[in-house]
Amino acid sequence: MEKLTTKKKIAVFISGRGSNLKSLIKNSKLKKSKFKIYLVISNKLTAQGLNYAKFNKIKSFAIEKKLKEFENKSLSLIKKYKINYICLAGFMRILSSSFIKKAKIPIINIHPSLLPKFKGLNTHERAIKSKQKFSGCTVHYVSEKLDSGKIILQKKVKILKKDNPKTLASKVLKQEHKAYSEALNLIIN
Ligand code: GRF
Repeated sequence: MEKLTTKKKIAVFISGRGSNLKSLIKNSKLKKSKFKIYLVISNKLTAQGLNYAKFNKIKSFAIEKKLKEFENKSLSLIKKYKINYICLAGFMRILSSSFIKKAKIPIINIHPSLLPKFKGLNTHERAIKSKQKFSGCTVHYVSEKLDSGKIILQKKVKILKKDNPKTLASKVLKQEHKAYSEALNLIIN
């Protein structure tokens, strides 16, 4: 049996596919895991990732509203369920600084590049175009500046001559699925 009481409660924010959510759920079930996925919030009604929440009987909410309303509803859920950490996983909105302050808990993000390189979108295309030898992923704290908060952990992959944005994305994604849980277990004491 999992020791639920000692595990930290995580809310995962998603917008789409949810493969990082899926791997967080899987890894949270390991005995050594220090966290439990307690809540899933999507800003898209049709996000595929919501199905992983339902399948695993995790409370989930789809709030497809303007940012302010999304943030207010999310904040009340975070308080109601006494969430300890928010994890952004393919969450495609930029949270306001007021949300970050009011949440009063760490907010963490995963980004598909070796930050500080390639903040923002289309990271794989940009990494290949600028002839990088390596790319990878970064798990970091969310701060008011986009993709710029303190780095927790990075994983590297080699960019081969034959790589295109699609093949690179899938190599990086594999590492993302390891990195996110590893980073959480690292920061939770
Ligand atoms: C991942 O590459 C993540 O790093 C980026 O968006 C993608 C989301 O994928 N922020 P998924 O929804 O977790 O499958």
